[in-house]
Amino acid sequence: MRMETYRRDRSYRWNYDHGPSFRGSFPSIPATPRKDFFGARVNSRLGVAAGILLNSKWVECYSRLGFDVLTYKTVRSSGRPCYPLPNWVFVESKRELDVGADEILRTARRRPRDPAAVTSAVCFGMPSQPPGVWRKDVRRARGKLRRGQVLVVSVVGTPREDGGEESLVEDFCRCARWASEAGADIVEANFSCPNVCTAEGSVYQDPGASARLASALREALPSTPLLIKSGHFSDRRRLGSFYQAVDGGADGVVLVNGVSRRVLGADNKPVFGAFERVGILGKAIHPAAVSNVAAAVRCCGSKGLELETIAVGGVTGVEDPGSFFDAGARGVVMGGVPMLDPLLALRMKESHPEW
Ligand SMILES: Cc1cc2nc3c(=O)[nH]c(=O)nc-3n(C[C@H](O)[C@H](O)[C@H](O)COP(=O)(O)O)c2cc1C
Repeated sequence: MRMETYRRDRSYRWNYDHGPSFRGSFPSIPATPRKDFFGARVNSRLGVAAGILLNSKWVECYSRLGFDVLTYKTVRSSGRPCYPLPNWVFVESKRELDVGADEILRTARRRPRDPAAVTSAVCFGMPSQPPGVWRKDVRRARGKLRRGQVLVVSVVGTPREDGGEESLVEDFCRCARWASEAGADIVEANFSCPNVCTAEGSVYQDPGASARLASALREALPSTPLLIKSGHFSDRRRLGSFYQAVDGGADGVVLVNGVSRRVLGADNKPVFGAFERVGILGKAIHPAAVSNVAAAVRCCGSKGLELETIAVGGVTGVEDPGSFFDAGARGVVMGGVPMLDPLLALRMKESHPEW
């Protein structure tokens, strides 16, 4: 059986304290020509998306495995526990998710043998360590990187029960400043989370709120590159409105987060209990992600927007980033697959040193 560096049978806390469960020896990484990535020189524009890099130990492990754009999992301005287990399950799925239909998915009866065929569902609720812990740990993580690598720190604002949009904006900006002060090369503001029901999970669906938040973040971070993480758009016009809204504030958009769907277990009940809608990732979302990225790049060209797009969604095999780069992506990051196939970036760099 293949190793999983994130133990899905253990709690988030266990994985934070004891992970990553990587047992191999670290490979030597092929030298590749340097490329520009938001002002930094990187070995490749391939990386790990906000997801399994829970802390500096995880960042160090994946930096040694040759991923060059390393995203520290989303942090908040106060501590927040993870949702109870399960947090991550494999799902049965036909090859491609139908973006026009709100189909219900089912948990896989068997663990797929081939990581390249995996579609999965996650439901964590964007947990966070208290800022006193993550601010020190981000600094530690930055110190672990090798030459030609960058640390992206993903942040999210937390709405106050008595506060409106203004308090959410303030909180986002506070986290972004802390991340930058702690040593983030790039800050990523998360405007989307498929399993969080409060306002911070769906900012990207509201162009007005996205515009106000992006420009406040720009003011808070005058000299640190700023990315915004967005959910998937099934409607091209809404994608265009979102890009227009954040242009001028952000330097780039990370497209896409998990695609929201309901997932049932063998007993026909929602597998994540109260959280019916969760994020689908992996193989089945790749065509939808490529089509969003291609539409976004076209939109920037036709409207003269200055945003770059960092692609994410369903990369599971060596050749998959090609469709994103061909569509005009500036970089490609991976969410779920680094857990199952930690040597994937190494093989990608051997086959495509130009990436
Ligand atoms: C274990 C796990 C946790 C995740 N947590 C976050 C998160 O905290 N913030 C975020 O923006 N995206 C999060 N994601 C979503 C990924 O960044 C990515 O958008 C998604 O997995 C789709 O990419 P994939 O198909 O390559 O997995 C998470 C993904 C995984 C696998």
